Amino acid sequence: MNRDKLTKNDITLLKEKYGDNIEEALKKVDNYYPVQYLIGNVNFYGYQFIVNENVLIPRFETELLIEKLLVYIKKYDFKEPKILDIGTGSGCIAITIKKEIPCCVTAIDVSTEALKVAKENARENKVDIDFKKKDILKEELENNYDIIVSNPPYLMETDEVSKELDFEPQIALYVQDDTLFYKEIIKKAVKKLNKPSIIAFETGIHHHNEIMSYAKKFFPNALIHSEQDYNKLDRYIFIINE
Ligand SMILES: C[S@@+](CC[C@H](N)C(=O)[O-])C[C@H]1O[C@@H](n2cnc3c(N)ncnc32)[C@H](O)[C@@H]1O
Repeated sequence: MNRDKLTKNDITLLKEKYGDNIEEALKKVDNYYPVQYLIGNVNFYGYQFIVNENVLIPRFETELLIEKLLVYIKKYDFKEPKILDIGTGSGCIAITIKKEIPCCVTAIDVSTEALKVAKENARENKVDIDFKKKDILKEELENNYDIIVSNPPYLMETDEVSKELDFEPQIALYVQDDTLFYKEIIKKAVKKLNKPSIIAFETGIHHHNEIMSYAKKFFPNALIHSEQDYNKLDRYIFIINE
């Protein structure tokens, strides 16, 4: 049963929240409903984030994206960089970076419901972020930035995924073309990046090389680094525009 995969901490939190009704919650877990939505919040990079069905549950791999990006920010000695987070969801990337370094962060998402959660998370974590509703596929970037970071939707209907994903917002996950968001962001960023600047992407494994080649076309003089996740898979791209 799926409930057997829960950690001791999950059970404690479920007991606290559901008391005598915990069996009902556990039945939902058995039917692949994500335990994070039942608990209502997650720990991400040491900070607490409210989650509900309107936002993607932040993943460990995204913590690694932030960790790696912070190393680059330090290496290139950015002072209070202007950062744009595209497809902010719960706000986990934007809020964590703002907690970690002095910076000015704008975060956009096409989903009004996701932005509500992200704003609540910013309030709870006591950070000031400029949240905007924006469709990155249809609208241009408004300002110039030092850093653009994004973990955009990239799954295809044909990808094999776990059943828990059925309960997460489909707009956060699925696309017709798994390179679409990356290409749009790269095209739009060319006109809107300061020098030096960084674009940081979390990607899937199948389209990783295609996105690397596309980035090289648009940023021929940039350093383009591919980095790996905890499973040694190519999952991050850093475009460093010196
Ligand atoms: C994979 S989720 C990432 C959420 C969060 N940044 C994270 O890493 O956990 C992708 C996000 O992109 C947003 N999104 C989807 N289509 C979009 C579009 N056309 N313009 C802007 N955001 C979009 C979704 O609503 C979702 O919040």
